[in-house]
Amino acid sequence: MSESLKVAVAGLGNVGVGVVKILEEHKELIAERAGREIVIKAVCARNHNVDRGVDLSGYIWVADATTLADMDDVDIVVELIGGEDGIAFEAAKNTLNKKKSLVTANKAMVAHHGAELADLAQDNGVALRYEAAVAGGIPIIKAIGEGLAANKLSQVYGIMNGTTNYMLTHMESRGLSYDEILEEVEELGYLEADPALDLDGIDAAHKLAILSSVAFGTKTDFDNVYIEGIRKIQGVDIEYAKELGYRIKLLGMTKFEDGNLSQRVHPVMIDRNLPIAGVMDGFNALVVDGDYIDRTFYQGRGAGEGPTASAVVADIIDIARGHSGPAFFKPAAKLVSANPVSINARKGAYYVRLHVKDEAGVIADITAGLKSASVSVETMLQKGSEQDGTVYVVITTHETTETAIKDALNRINELSSVIENPLSIRIENL
Ligand code: HSE
Repeated sequence: MSESLKVAVAGLGNVGVGVVKILEEHKELIAERAGREIVIKAVCARNHNVDRGVDLSGYIWVADATTLADMDDVDIVVELIGGEDGIAFEAAKNTLNKKKSLVTANKAMVAHHGAELADLAQDNGVALRYEAAVAGGIPIIKAIGEGLAANKLSQVYGIMNGTTNYMLTHMESRGLSYDEILEEVEELGYLEADPALDLDGIDAAHKLAILSSVAFGTKTDFDNVYIEGIRKIQGVDIEYAKELGYRIKLLGMTKFEDGNLSQRVHPVMIDRNLPIAGVMDGFNALVVDGDYIDRTFYQGRGAGEGPTASAVVADIIDIARGHSGPAFFKPAAKLVSANPVSINARKGAYYVRLHVKDEAGVIADITAGLKSASVSVETMLQKGSEQDGTVYVVITTHETTETAIKDALNRINELSSVIENPLSIRIENL
């Protein structure tokens, strides 16, 4: 067997601990598969004096992650610190500059600096791997970059954030309000340290920006992802969606055509019979369409110690096997800058929820607002009057444009009978 591969692990949260566990528990199995032993040489975290439930005494303890790559007996650094900049980014750049390969689970860093890091890895002749950054236990980066490499891909979409999928699932299955399910995921520890990353769709957008580059060979362009989260979704929307034959999901969607790249993360209403509509709880799912494969569908756990650490260790094994191809599956210099497609270019149907006073003439005023913006109604539902004299009116439209629906909602919002900002959700035919 060839010489062992020596690893340094930076960051000992759940995922870091999971990586240590897998590399120790599956030592022999992994050595067989990798063709060489993989040994942990050094570990690094902010706080040394914490019981993490694993024995770390056999590893060198290093306080500063940016110095790990300077150690002679470290071949690769595994960065599990997180954060788009700061120590994680410094450690990543130093690792690549020292001609050592980098494995990372850092979605924010790859989404923001993917093209730069890919360049650096290539210039230094080493590997950059980030399977764990997207959809945890689903090997979607390898599936797209290697398994589907023969195809011209047209779109990738999916559920990329497990926490919000759990929230939407339980708002429907248990009839919980947004605030109730938010409290539950806080207690369960599902939320990111900054909950806005989950709730406002930013975490999903990081993953989508990475997938765009892997699928289409474009430079990572997080700044041009259109992002909306789930904070405005209420129980009433979940109920109406069901009544209309839809289910609400927070999807990331990326499409590339003729140099134009559309990247969007927002809640959608989709046919509740679609396979992806049946993906519940904290699971992630991805759909990849290509010219020779038609459609492929992937489902699995997108977060948590085991699935994420499994993806990290798979990347380490890849490097141990000597696979050091380009980070985004084509030479870094060939990654293209795509033209971003604005959300305003969207055409499609919309669900609109209005909370209005239950009084004569309201429906006529609403339809007049829609007519002025040339938005045609497909269905209109109104539930019996609430005790406080207000009702929810729900409309689905025929195909229209993003600008027309915005125009209509601005007009309707000016009516004195409207007591809450109207909400629209895009209906996607997937
Ligand atoms: N906050 C993320 C999620 C963790 O809920 O999917 C995994 O990236």
